Amino acid sequence: MKISWESPSNIALIKYWGKRDIQIPLNPSISFTLSKCKTTTEVHFTKGTGIDISLDGKDKPEFIPKIENYLQRIKERHPWLVSYRLQIKTSNSFPHSSGIASSASGMSALSLCIVEFANKIGFKLGALDFYQEASILSRLGSGSASRSIYGGIAVWGESSYLKNSRNEYAIKYPEIIHPIFKNYCDVILIVDTKEKQVSSTLGHSLMDSHPFNEQRFSQAHKHVKDIKRILQTGNVDDFIQLTELEALTLHGLMMSSSPNFILIKPNTLKIIEKIREFRNNSKLPISFTLDAGANVHLLFPNSAKNKTMEFVKNTLIQFCRGENFISDHVGLGPKRLTNFEE
Ligand code: DP6
Repeated sequence: MKISWESPSNIALIKYWGKRDIQIPLNPSISFTLSKCKTTTEVHFTKGTGIDISLDGKDKPEFIPKIENYLQRIKERHPWLVSYRLQIKTSNSFPHSSGIASSASGMSALSLCIVEFANKIGFKLGALDFYQEASILSRLGSGSASRSIYGGIAVWGESSYLKNSRNEYAIKYPEIIHPIFKNYCDVILIVDTKEKQVSSTLGHSLMDSHPFNEQRFSQAHKHVKDIKRILQTGNVDDFIQLTELEALTLHGLMMSSSPNFILIKPNTLKIIEKIREFRNNSKLPISFTLDAGANVHLLFPNSAKNKTMEFVKNTLIQFCRGENFISDHVGLGPKRLTNFEE
């Protein structure tokens, strides 16, 4: 049986940085689910054992250990997997050379295929619903992938400020969202196209002994409380303050861990400088966030799109590798593509 899903990437507003045990976050995180940056995955399940994996039609044996490790982790929940062979065909909407991590979209697309197949063969998921189970499996593949399961805004990690938030799986953001945030834009300015220099697993592990870890975790909890008010009232000025503080805190933590590392590049800083300058002059509510790399995510409301895109083209693309950027926005979440074929 072949099952196919497409699943988007996401960009964290409140960052997950630090984990314990098997993919349990040390603080809650909140993200916008994206729309155009996505992975499409088809899995052909047959009786047998082993894995084949291709990306854009090319065999990728080098991905097998990561997938094996993931399958090993999820087998406890899905013991039926031991008697199946998985032929995985996957493709990303964004080029591999864009420096955009595909783990959130890739692991969530694969997890959705696996949970759907489990359903098809009558495997009982227990008390959890389809999406909760898909989010658990995604989390076991890559923490941030747990949030890609839901459209709009997603939360992963327990917070006393958000009802039903959990460490085991992400949930759809459960509170009121001001309309301004429903179609917020994210232009990803591609500064560096290289593979991640520091694996996220190593980065997360450095939080265990980080001298500022406790302060960071309590700050993240407080930021959840703050963002709840911001998302409800549509206060974009406070949104700007919060998202930029989160981004710079993430990189500040990396720069102050042992060993420490610097993932931003000179052009990352140039872009940040230009964004702040343009914001001061134009009074448009644009802000930036960063993931664990050099690329800059430029966030702004849809109403500021025309002027902001002009600014991107006139001022920012000169700092992008090959003048590359991806214009994305908050999206609806994963989509099932399967037409059943036994
Ligand atoms: C900086 O989800 O890539 O993007 O669980 O080890 O796969 P693993 O880590 P990963 O970490 C993402 C960290 C981040 C912030 C975030 O997305 O919340």
